[in-house]
Amino acid sequence: MFSKLDDKIRMLYDDKMGISTKVHDRIFSLIFKNDEYIGQYSDNSATDLLRMAKKAEINKNSHILDIGSGPGGPSCFLASTIGCKVTGIDISSNYVAYSNSRAKSMSLNNVEFIEASIWEANLPSNTYDSIIGTGAWCHLDPKYLFPLVYKWLKPGGTIAFMERVKIKELTDDEIYKLCTEWACTEIKSITDYFNLLYSSGFSDIYFENLSIEYKNILQRCIESRLKIKNELINISGKEFFENDFKLAEYEKKAAFAGKLGYAMFVGKKI
Ligand SMILES: C[S@@+](CC[C@H](N)C(=O)[O-])C[C@H]1O[C@@H](n2cnc3c(N)ncnc32)[C@H](O)[C@@H]1O
Repeated sequence: MFSKLDDKIRMLYDDKMGISTKVHDRIFSLIFKNDEYIGQYSDNSATDLLRMAKKAEINKNSHILDIGSGPGGPSCFLASTIGCKVTGIDISSNYVAYSNSRAKSMSLNNVEFIEASIWEANLPSNTYDSIIGTGAWCHLDPKYLFPLVYKWLKPGGTIAFMERVKIKELTDDEIYKLCTEWACTEIKSITDYFNLLYSSGFSDIYFENLSIEYKNILQRCIESRLKIKNELINISGKEFFENDFKLAEYEKKAAFAGKLGYAMFVGKKI
């Protein structure tokens, strides 16, 4: 059922990874000041991640599963700052290799990375204290993902994620450019997420609207690209730069039109 989407995601993240990692690191280290950039490929800061971890009751004894761990920034950051055990899972073989080298360079022995599509991963039930996602669950339909997360969590365990949310209806063109082109399922509204969390069995839902911060990030994303335009073109070539810039502008436009936002959700399996 998900194999076509999985193929597209592999193509997106595996094929372009070499260039996009270098470009991403340059831009994000300008967007996020001080220690807020920890290698995340998501529109949230290190402080947001730590706050989400606290809400999700993650501590040094927790075992957490990071679904769509990407190049491993958030997984390694949580493993090193909190000391919890982290299992990251990602469909991209390049990102898993990159995550492993990140963990090695940080001398972490409490983090591991699995290469698999979440739809095919045969993970053990009632196992994880918390299952998290940052900017990755846009690829995964929550209608199917949340029941799996519920099954894999221990009783009392938490689901915690930060993701784009639909604030107002999007046009077909916006859906195409913001979702279809990025192998994302249609962006869910805040109400959709609440309903899906409750219907999958979660309770005690905590919610934070991060849309203002998201708009600032998107604004700085455009400014940073323009500031180091020549350097980025040297890394990626003109065509890559221009395509990337167009997409960034498109997302910023939707956010500034009040159609797109970003939010944090935490829920509990009782
Ligand atoms: C934008 S990146 C976010 C990475 C990371 N969470 C972060 O904040 O840096 C989204 C990640 O989701 C992964 N992904 C998408 N679909 C997946 C699937 N079906 N199974 C596992 N990983 C998937 C992609 O390969 C990609 O690395």
